[in-house]
Amino acid sequence: MCGIVGYVGSREATPILLEGLKRLEYRGYDSAGIALLNGKNVSVVKQPGKVRELEKAIKVSPISATCGIAHTRWATHGSPNLPNAHPQMSTDGTIALVHNGIIENADALRVQLQKEGYLFVSETDTEVVVKLIDLLWMEDTLLEEAVAAALRQVEGAYGIAVVSSRDSNKIVAAQNGSPLLIGVGQEGEVLCGSNAAAVISLTREVVYLDDGDYAVLEPSGFRTYHLSGTEVARSVYQVTWDLESVEKGGYEHFMLKEIFEQPETLRNVMRGRLLEEEGDVRLGGIRDHAKELAEVRRIVMTACGTSWHAGLVGEYMLEEFARIPVNVEYASEFRYRHPVLEEGTLNLAISQSGETADTLAALKEAKQAGSDTMGVVNTVGSTIARHTDFGIYLHAGPEIGVASTKAFTSQLVALTLFTLYMGRRRQMSVLQGREVVAALQELPDLVEEVLQLNDEIRDLAQHFKDARNFLYLGRGYQFPVALEGALKLKEVSYIHAEGYPAAEMKHGPIALIDDDMPVVFLAPRDSVYTKVVSNIEEVKARQGRIIAVVSDNAPELKGKVDHMIRVPHTIPSLLSVLTTVPLQLLAYHMAVIRGANVDQPRNLAKSVTVE
Ligand code: G6P
Repeated sequence: MCGIVGYVGSREATPILLEGLKRLEYRGYDSAGIALLNGKNVSVVKQPGKVRELEKAIKVSPISATCGIAHTRWATHGSPNLPNAHPQMSTDGTIALVHNGIIENADALRVQLQKEGYLFVSETDTEVVVKLIDLLWMEDTLLEEAVAAALRQVEGAYGIAVVSSRDSNKIVAAQNGSPLLIGVGQEGEVLCGSNAAAVISLTREVVYLDDGDYAVLEPSGFRTYHLSGTEVARSVYQVTWDLESVEKGGYEHFMLKEIFEQPETLRNVMRGRLLEEEGDVRLGGIRDHAKELAEVRRIVMTACGTSWHAGLVGEYMLEEFARIPVNVEYASEFRYRHPVLEEGTLNLAISQSGETADTLAALKEAKQAGSDTMGVVNTVGSTIARHTDFGIYLHAGPEIGVASTKAFTSQLVALTLFTLYMGRRRQMSVLQGREVVAALQELPDLVEEVLQLNDEIRDLAQHFKDARNFLYLGRGYQFPVALEGALKLKEVSYIHAEGYPAAEMKHGPIALIDDDMPVVFLAPRDSVYTKVVSNIEEVKARQGRIIAVVSDNAPELKGKVDHMIRVPHTIPSLLSVLTTVPLQLLAYHMAVIRGANVDQPRNLAKSVTVE
């Protein structure tokens, strides 16, 4: 989720590139950098922090150039520090490259390049690509030929832009899984960017590359090729959106954009990590800690808010598949309640931002008590990521909407990956492992299917827009989903909502049920389905208005529920991902219909860095 912009033409490139970067800053802002071609040199300026820091640095010693590329970074590999900032360079400083995405075979390529004598100055996967281009650049050939040769060896997702003083006044751009588009500027200039926001100040005519395409941009125009070297034609589109909606990818709110990004973010959290044959996972962040993890006898998860709900699903999974006892603690309680942390306890901190004060304090508490510490974190290089001994990153990209959506489902998948890791090293069979891996592989497509329910759920929201209370009920893996569904509704629509274990309802909330109380039942066909059907009957008998989220035709529920939302079926633990998505959409549409500020709900903060 980094931002890329490139310009080649006759005007001064720096202000154009800086303007593009500022418009992309919502995509990531832990460092920024620029590479400019002036005469026979590539000049690079990089700064940690926001684009305005880069701007200040450039003002100190301005560089005149009419061709350049720039980048604002959201770290995926390596901390957000200066050496890891983009552009990344060839050793002789003649090639500069900016990248958005994740290169899956970076480790293997790095080893190969080290054998050729290349030294690496960053921890990034990006540096591997630029050094590979250098290695494969044959004498008397063009930059684009070297880039294409390198990309044929690269696996994973990338959107890149490359410049070189060895073949100057041109940009080579390429895409595979991470978007990179061309902006058709005025006569004599061409731009490129990771999305239309990057180029919109100069042009509204854009050309979208396909996966496996690369393009050569020169002042005289551009050409597009397939990686095989065949020239391909790509159409020019008119951008009709305004800037704000370009940043939101055409969605009305970041929350909706992030809900719809989930098929992609789920692919990202799994990318390069699944071992289909072995029914296992490859997790770079914990690979070197096999010994500590083999000795774990209990896991204490600490988190807040939505991340705490993800922890509950993780608890059920780890206990079912890996047979490890797990406790899930509110970080704010854990830190003050003198917990017993016996030897062999692993503290697992779950946090989207990696900055939540209570989760950080709980982590420090556990560390002090001698526990090993692990993070499931989205923000690379964040405080929690730095303070844990090892961990798994979500790679979900920046989450802008205050109510967490895509980070939650990525947390569920990251915890599934961790369960596979722990389970397969304990008592989980290859067959069981393969079943989970297969279910993970089809999950993004199933989420796409659930997203097609958007219009249906908008109608449902219209129907319930005046409700003052909501009850969400579920059992097993669906209990944490009920909690999360209720939290989403509270956060963005300000309707009072409670999540409860469906059977526990009898011990209190049932007193609230009348024909004015909408009740959302999570009722996919899992091992507790028939029990949930009984709970539905109990609510029906008291005239509650029932919305059931089911995973097949649910004939048992005909005539018993008022509305049915049908999601596809998968294994019970991952049904939690599929049933979450309609609840996110329901909360979103209720909030929009009620005129609430969806992306910045009152009184809430994205990252709570105070107690
Ligand atoms: C805040 C946010 C929630 C989030 C919680 C924990 O309350 O509004 O969306 O779930 O903090 O944040 P973390 O970044 O640690 O996951």
